[in-house]
Amino acid sequence: MPLTEAVLTKRIPTFPWGDPKNRRTVGIDQFMATGGYETLKKAISMQPTEIVNLVKDANLRGRGGAGFPAGLKWTFLPPPDGKTRYLCINCDEAEPGTFKDRLLVDFDPHLILEGIAIACYACQLDTAFFFIRGEYHHQAKVMQRAIDEAYAKGIFGGKGLLNGASNFKVECYLHRGAGAYICGEETGLLEAIEGKRGWPRIKPPFPAVKGLFGRPTIINNVETLAAVGPIVDKGVAWWKGCGCESSVGGPPSYGPKLMGVSGHVERPGVFECDLGIPLRKLVEDYCGGMRKGKKFKGAIAGGVSMGVLGPDQYDAEMDFDIGRKYDVLGLGTACPTVFDEDTDMVAVARNLARFFKNESCGQCTPCREGSGWMLKLIMKVERGEGTTKDLDLILEIAGSMGLTPGTTICGLADGNNFAVRTIVNKFRGEFEKRVKPVYVPVTVGAR
Ligand SMILES: Cc1cc2nc3c(=O)[nH]c(=O)nc-3n(C[C@H](O)[C@H](O)[C@H](O)COP(=O)(O)O)c2cc1C
Ligand code: SF4
Repeated sequence: MPLTEAVLTKRIPTFPWGDPKNRRTVGIDQFMATGGYETLKKAISMQPTEIVNLVKDANLRGRGGAGFPAGLKWTFLPPPDGKTRYLCINCDEAEPGTFKDRLLVDFDPHLILEGIAIACYACQLDTAFFFIRGEYHHQAKVMQRAIDEAYAKGIFGGKGLLNGASNFKVECYLHRGAGAYICGEETGLLEAIEGKRGWPRIKPPFPAVKGLFGRPTIINNVETLAAVGPIVDKGVAWWKGCGCESSVGGPPSYGPKLMGVSGHVERPGVFECDLGIPLRKLVEDYCGGMRKGKKFKGAIAGGVSMGVLGPDQYDAEMDFDIGRKYDVLGLGTACPTVFDEDTDMVAVARNLARFFKNESCGQCTPCREGSGWMLKLIMKVERGEGTTKDLDLILEIAGSMGLTPGTTICGLADGNNFAVRTIVNKFRGEFEKRVKPVYVPVTVGAR
């Protein structure tokens, strides 16, 4: 079913939001005047497990990159034991090309806070940490103001949720990151909140069992939590009416999704779309087509970690099947960066490889060393000094790093692997034009 009604962005002015007259945040009074926090009221009249089951039935898949079902994750929590349990909200959003959570924070922070309050009640988590990317200076202020407003109205703190309408009390804090991509990885994020260096932890134990300060913890993305209220409000049937079933026998891709498009399109921006929309339609109908009418050459699927779609994959459906169907890692954040026919894909590979090398936390040898060697080899090819053997070596290094081959602690290395490998594979001709031929020595006079 096509998206008939904007839900996540219903209070957000239409593009271009950069326009100063559109740059306003929905404050708590406006939020409440337009139905805000009514869903929280409904939620606290339900049993916590009813809400967990609702989110599980809806098959709300995480919007932070991995697409893990949120309701299922919530069921991994042990029963409450009277001690502190945490919700960590992931607003690190350091993935290049991804800027969808920022839009929600900028314009409708209470939609997120309502989702946080409902999730805390459903999972019986009494403390929420909103972890926000270090570079989001303005958004940190907006979010802190919204948290203060919510406290002033008795949503958080006090006698319990909604001025004591529930005796379950939630405290909510903002925690600012220091600007490291790895702190978006869920256990790197936990380390950062604990005041340590953002080094991902070996799993298991998973955070639901042993997370922040060793206590049961749920980590969810901003957009995932923003979707919780609408699901409780409108019901599972409505949620399942948006998005699509899997076409490869996998789990479905339900719900509306924020898609942030950047790169060589006429009108970059964030658009609320049905999951499953073909990339071509997203670009042509929402973004006004390719910039200056140029030809589509490829696109980063959804955040640089996902790898690239090639020129023949313009019709790829933007849903959670994309990884299985189009040889990319997955849908990621559903924020594609589009390239036109003039793009130098060797330069793109160099740029991405440099990003991953700089952001590797250095714990695992294949990631720490492999990222540096891949960058060196790509730069050698870019300078015209490489050989076809170097291309094969790049592919070999890429393929040997990540959770998929089982050599690293976290998925940053898989991102590096897919980003580089898919560019070299899908644009091999462009790389081959830049390398020197390898001469095979011939022994003259041999019999
Ligand atoms: C290197 C790396 C960076 C990540 N960055 C983010 C991020 O900025 N925001 C986010 O929500 N998830 C990020 N993730 C995914 C998180 O680890 C985690 O899966 C997610 O926050 C869970 O929320 P969700 O299930 O609601 O998507 C990252 C993962 C990796 C490996
Ligand atoms: S894969 Fe890379 S970023 Fe992740 S823990 Fe290992 S070294 Fe750090």
